[in-house]
Amino acid sequence: MKFDEAKQILEKYNQEHILKSYKRLNEEYKEKLINQILRIDFEQILNLYEKTKVPVEFKNSKIEPIPAIDSAKLSDEEREKYTKLGEEILKSGKHAAVTMAGGQGTRLGHNGPKGTFDLGLPSHKSLFEILCDGLKKTWDKYGAIIPWYIMTSRENNDEATRKFFEENNYFGYPKENIMFFKQGELPMIGDDGKIILDESGLIKEAADGHGGVFESIYKNGALEDMKKRGIEWVFIGGVDNVLVKMADPIFIGFVADNNYKVASKTIVKGYPEEKVGVFCKKDDKPYVIEYTEISEEMANKKNTEGELVYSEAHMLLNMFNIEILEEIANEKLPYHSAYKKASYMDDDGKIINPETPNAYKFETFLFDAFGLVQDVGLYRGKREEDFSPVKNASGVDSPETARRDYIKYHNL
Ligand code: UD1
Repeated sequence: MKFDEAKQILEKYNQEHILKSYKRLNEEYKEKLINQILRIDFEQILNLYEKTKVPVEFKNSKIEPIPAIDSAKLSDEEREKYTKLGEEILKSGKHAAVTMAGGQGTRLGHNGPKGTFDLGLPSHKSLFEILCDGLKKTWDKYGAIIPWYIMTSRENNDEATRKFFEENNYFGYPKENIMFFKQGELPMIGDDGKIILDESGLIKEAADGHGGVFESIYKNGALEDMKKRGIEWVFIGGVDNVLVKMADPIFIGFVADNNYKVASKTIVKGYPEEKVGVFCKKDDKPYVIEYTEISEEMANKKNTEGELVYSEAHMLLNMFNIEILEEIANEKLPYHSAYKKASYMDDDGKIINPETPNAYKFETFLFDAFGLVQDVGLYRGKREEDFSPVKNASGVDSPETARRDYIKYHNL
């Protein structure tokens, strides 16, 4: 029955090739494949595929830079006021942290969840442990145990992440304050508009981008848990920045004092080609233009002082008021497509490892939620204190540069 229903769906969407591997599967996988077919929204995937043919255009939009408050230019009084308020928020248990650890470490060549990566420090600390160290410091200093929510995906292995924490005794952090939740996934689709199969003959699905964090914290009960704990402010960041501060009093105080519902810590973009998104206003709403989507002209545009006009870089260091998080969770964010190299099983059951990109992955981005509020507070931090990501195996943003910056910042 279920098989016939699945077959009909595939016929409707011209995806019959998916069942070609069916006879080769064992009973368990046969059932899994059929369930995937019944669950997936083919209409949505094919619509997204059609949109990949339309280039991202900003020509018809009004684009302007957004100024940031430069932390280096704060007066002593402001500095004191923000720090004090931030410290009060931390001490009263109103702050939580979310780490988005669902992405793949593909560019890094690391096998396993990216947070488990050992960047080669003398201590051999993993990225997860480096992040946890920051929370332990807050605990030491203010007696505040910040609840920590970690987003994983099936793809990068939720189980492996949990196991890693368990094996490492949660890095000495109270275990009941570390929560894991999974993000969503979407099928990948080839150049020819055909959904691809993974190595085991099931539909190949990939994490649906960190924009899924809002829906996931809502659906998986993390938001409810935060509310029960009396959380008011939530920091949401990535897993790969070794200088990340998930509970930075001055930044928290800046956000709360100005009553921002959403705020972001930025740094000045280093050079036009740097692989960071930049803040701007698009049709009067806050927006981040990704480095994959910005035009050369816009990336290179300078003002009369010779500075980049679009220079406020997004580092995935974002703060949200809990109330707006709930609102965003109920909104639909737009999808972006990325053309990636993806291994797959062909119609004859052969595994193909392509050398060049061959399939589209669809993702929502957390920062597309910024457009839902009128005003995003931008607080400009400092590169040497706030940003050193591990993205590539060598060269810029690699373990080598992250080690250097981490050792320098911590005076090791
Ligand atoms: C990202 C930002 C970019 C920013 C830069 C700073 C995006 C789309 N762009 O680029 O604006 O300037 O970081 O370093 O984020 N993740 C998930 N689930 C997913 C996808 C990603 O949890 O489905 C997590 C990753 O684990 C990582 C973070 O999100 O912690 C960033 O993802 P990544 O793909 O590395 O983004 P970048 O291209 O480096």
